[in-house]
Amino acid sequence: TWTAVDSYTQSHVHPPSTPNHKALLDALRNSRDKGLPDIATAPTVAKMYALQCKASKVQHALEFGTLGAYTSIWLATVNPTLRVTSLEINEHHAAVARENLRNAGVADRVSVRLGAALDLLPVLAAEIERGEKPKLGFVYIDADKENNWNYLDRVIALCEPGAVIYVDNIVRGGSILDATNPEPRAQGARRVVEMAGKDERVDSVVMQFVGEKGYDGMLMAVVR
Ligand code: DHB
Ligand code: MG
Repeated sequence: TWTAVDSYTQSHVHPPSTPNHKALLDALRNSRDKGLPDIATAPTVAKMYALQCKASKVQHALEFGTLGAYTSIWLATVNPTLRVTSLEINEHHAAVARENLRNAGVADRVSVRLGAALDLLPVLAAEIERGEKPKLGFVYIDADKENNWNYLDRVIALCEPGAVIYVDNIVRGGSILDATNPEPRAQGARRVVEMAGKDERVDSVVMQFVGEKGYDGMLMAVVR
């Protein structure tokens, strides 16, 4: 039923006549053909992020975990003046992402940076410090889950007040409840929720959702 509802509602709010429709499907197909895992953000969620950027008139967005650039294509196609920086540790993923961005006509607005995010963040911080790039108005953390908190903790200083930070895959079918789950990814979800809740720099909420990708949810943190 969740998938059927997604299909029905998307056929109305994101019909095939939408300008970015084909580029998004092409990106998913090309990513699958090139062997990327089928774990891109769901269309409904990626569009929600794109609309969030639009509503907040965000100038500069940052993504942790480019994968095939599916979410970046959403952000950039819905927001022509938005500049996106996207961090990816996997060279093949980054190459496919750049292909998909070129095909979508937004390669000049999305900068894919290859490397470990914890190494790339200081570089971005220096660029922002020098005034070469605006501070961040939107951040999407969707990479190695064990670093969720490290990424959130370090990115806050690069954000403007009121910036919105989302962390994906927080609920994972309810596995966040299992404190004894030794899987680092599950612990990464618990840690970021527990740490964000104590952190004076942000005001946070966790939203559960269902859809074509199953039952999951995200943390939203707004920078004070
Ligand atoms: C996985 C990672 C994700 O970011 C996601 O949204 C779903 C699954 C994974 O690594 O399995
Ligand atoms: Mg994810």
